[in-house]
Amino acid sequence: MMQAYSRRLGHQFLKPSLALSTLKPAYAISDYGSDHSRYGSTLATKGVEHLIRKGTGGRSSVSGVIATVFGATGFLGRYVVQQLAKMGSQVLVPFRGSEDSHRHLKLMGDLGQVVPMKYNPRDENSIKAVMAKANVVLNLIGREHETRNYGFEEVHHSMAEQLALIAKEHGGIMRFIQVSCLGASPSSPSRMLRAKAAAEQSILKELPEATIVRPAVMIGTEDRLLNTWAAFAKNYGFLPLIGDGSTKIQPVYVADVAAAIMSALKDDASIGKVYELGGPQIFTVNELAELMYDMIREWPRYVKVPFPIAKAFASPREFLLNKVPFPLPSPSMFNLDKINALTVDTVVSENALTFDDLGIVPHKLKGYPIEFLISYRKGGPQFGSTVSERVNPEAWP
Ligand SMILES: NC(=O)c1ccc[n+]([C@@H]2O[C@H](COP(=O)([O-])OP(=O)(O)OC[C@H]3O[C@@H](n4cnc5c(N)ncnc54)[C@H](OP(=O)(O)O)[C@@H]3O)[C@@H](O)[C@H]2O)c1
Repeated sequence: MMQAYSRRLGHQFLKPSLALSTLKPAYAISDYGSDHSRYGSTLATKGVEHLIRKGTGGRSSVSGVIATVFGATGFLGRYVVQQLAKMGSQVLVPFRGSEDSHRHLKLMGDLGQVVPMKYNPRDENSIKAVMAKANVVLNLIGREHETRNYGFEEVHHSMAEQLALIAKEHGGIMRFIQVSCLGASPSSPSRMLRAKAAAEQSILKELPEATIVRPAVMIGTEDRLLNTWAAFAKNYGFLPLIGDGSTKIQPVYVADVAAAIMSALKDDASIGKVYELGGPQIFTVNELAELMYDMIREWPRYVKVPFPIAKAFASPREFLLNKVPFPLPSPSMFNLDKINALTVDTVVSENALTFDDLGIVPHKLKGYPIEFLISYRKGGPQFGSTVSERVNPEAWP
């Protein structure tokens, strides 16, 4: 039956053997895994380099990768799915919300190659079902704030650990890639970054062959940093600068992070490695805000909000979150955990493996990667083709 299944996919049948599956499962799952006639992943043996490939490498070819991308419905997810699908991979997209959450992903691959599958992240069996036919697992699940239903520890740590355990039991998962965060450390002032660090530890304990990527704050059309700033500046005529704006960050273009994940996936040398993915330039928060103002053609106007005051603004939500009988709005500008993270610099460490080790040259944050900001220009996107055409503060109502 497995042979028949493989033939249907146009692949040659290979015996599942090595890679992550060489690890002994912590506990046997008899009705599931590479040896199960229905669910087994029958494609490759070790690393995706050995997968059967057909075609010229475009979206209609067969890369042999069958990837389950957890968190595919998010910001980074769309770029990862697009890059997987365009090289002819099958992408399984677990989703938990509305049917609309994955609609944009279907068109990224050839007919039937991007397969949405409803799942429940708290139901182990449903996770097994979405991973069952895969040979690659990518975990992009994350959230920058806690909700009434989910805390940081569960979303960033427990779920990641569970995925690693299930991948280990599966036996046919050749590559497991975890998307963590730059600055993830047990001593970080941010609870989210501490949970990310704990997840990395747990994953590497279960699957030493897993690859971990730690992107810096990501910039792109759907980002939650420059879009939030630009919308705020446009609506209120100023930008709150948390702290004094001198914290150093190393923002990175989202498509470069997706490209780095693809590069890690294709290269067995990345097995068991941790990569820190920061952009080519280090900015202070203030400098990045200047860049945003430059792109939306407005004169920068800031209100400096010292850390204690910013925390005081952000704290009531955290305090009330589980005390009121209704959901509270998601924090955007004043997110307590992000404010805590901003109290220290977050840049790529000196001896870390980086884009360079994955053969990728990340884009500078100018021109195309931040072009989406033109939609925030007061005079319309075409307004201000030169910087001298900035909106003068005198012109404001
Ligand atoms: N954005 C950044 O600047 C940045 C920087 C460094 C690292 N990262 C990390 O990179 C990864 C992807 O980031 P992103 O910006 O693409 O995140 P995102 O846009 O917020 O998307 C997060 C994904 O995680 C899923 N998710 C969130 N909470 C979940 C839960 N409780 N159960 C199941 N799924 C859940 C979301 O599913 P739904 O659509 O169902 O909500 C969505 O698919 C995350 O791990 C994040 O921590 C992000």
